[in-house]
Amino acid sequence: MFSKETYTKRRELLRERVSRGGIILLPGNSEAPRNYPDNGYHFRQDSSFLYFFGIQQPDLVGMLDIDSGEDWLFGDDLSMDDIIWTGPQPTISDLGAKCGVTSTASLAALQEMLTLAIRKGRHIHFLPPYRADNKLKLSRWLGISPDAVADRISVELAIAIVSLRDKKSEEEIREIEDACEIGYRMHTAAMRMCRPGVCERDIAGAIEGISLEMGEGVSFHSIVTQHGETLHNHSHNGILEDGRMLLVDAGAENLMNYCSDFTRTYPVNGKFSPMQRDIYNIVLAANTRAFEMARPEILYRDVHFGAVRVILEGLKELGLVRGNIDDAIAKGAHALFMPHGLGHMMGIDVHDMEDIGEEYVGYDLETERSAQLGVSCLRMARRLKPGMVMTDEPGIYFIPAYIAKWKAEGLNKEFINFDKLEPYMNFGGIRIEDDLLITETGNRILGKRRIPVTVEEIETFMAGE
Ligand code: GLY
Ligand code: MN
Repeated sequence: MFSKETYTKRRELLRERVSRGGIILLPGNSEAPRNYPDNGYHFRQDSSFLYFFGIQQPDLVGMLDIDSGEDWLFGDDLSMDDIIWTGPQPTISDLGAKCGVTSTASLAALQEMLTLAIRKGRHIHFLPPYRADNKLKLSRWLGISPDAVADRISVELAIAIVSLRDKKSEEEIREIEDACEIGYRMHTAAMRMCRPGVCERDIAGAIEGISLEMGEGVSFHSIVTQHGETLHNHSHNGILEDGRMLLVDAGAENLMNYCSDFTRTYPVNGKFSPMQRDIYNIVLAANTRAFEMARPEILYRDVHFGAVRVILEGLKELGLVRGNIDDAIAKGAHALFMPHGLGHMMGIDVHDMEDIGEEYVGYDLETERSAQLGVSCLRMARRLKPGMVMTDEPGIYFIPAYIAKWKAEGLNKEFINFDKLEPYMNFGGIRIEDDLLITETGNRILGKRRIPVTVEEIETFMAGE
């Protein structure tokens, strides 16, 4: 945990930023059962609860009284029966002391306080629940149906929390750098293991083991696949084949639940073919262009356009694309090759605050989400600010079914040389992802060492030199 002053200050700032008075409720998470109640998934605390209270323990609820300025932590102390199974645990009042909260009480007391507050007409602010049990708890606490919970979320609270969490402090950056180091170890281990005949599962298991050895585990299900053209391919059943490429998109949560997220794509046999090298270098140039552009006040949507321009220009040089690149981007022709956005915010969540809503995290009044092909997929469009942590993850994918659809419909046929795509139907896909911190003047790549990324670095590394 950070010091109790950190959490006290964060809660103080939050109270100041929610101008409509009332009560802010921040439910922590409970254990989530896998196949029966006592066999749970690895416990993961709610990220906003972690941000404001820092305690990684199930069945707690945080409350901020905006009008009185008092913070509360609710939970039930363990019974002797619990202690027999779990061992002695800190009391709720001990936990409160760790995060600077002196008012603690049981969950039954929370229900009573909320009932009274509602009777007095006080406003209860809460975020959109993403777990069914928390949705049911909110429904019970507020005396409304579960279906009505979504209509009662507090947009003001959502915007206030995003405005705090989107700027990472120096102590948070140190935690993210720690997660990046775990990511470095995972990715370099994968590169060392990669050779024909190895199963994708061997690599996935090894790198996920590193994430558990050094931290809280993976920040999302690892993608370890020769079918990089399937964006979120979670199958690990393939046997690595000479001549193909392996895409590894994986990251870790460190012990404080801060995340990393990296992608590398490399030849299974350790040597890029000319075709692989050409496409790889275009993706790398797009990744580099994003680093060159990312700085305070630029729209991340413009950085996305900068990267997709590099992709289309590169593909034009190879003869796969033709025509005016501005017109091609305006018509969304790049979406055939890169049907996703350039990146997302990262912090205590790998897609930071996605539970709160992309409309508040990646967009604002200036940047409404576009419905246009090639732009609608952007998770993050708004202006960058110092302290934001972003991923930069361009890619080029040859998705046979998608190419066939565009060809059949003649979509963007003035820009795409469909016949020239035939040799790429078994190519797969390439993505390169790094994490960057927006600084006062530009940005810097996070992680004390960068995972090998150029063709030369990768070939040298894979040769074990
Ligand atoms: N690295 C997985 C994702 O960003 O969706
Ligand atoms: Mn990512």
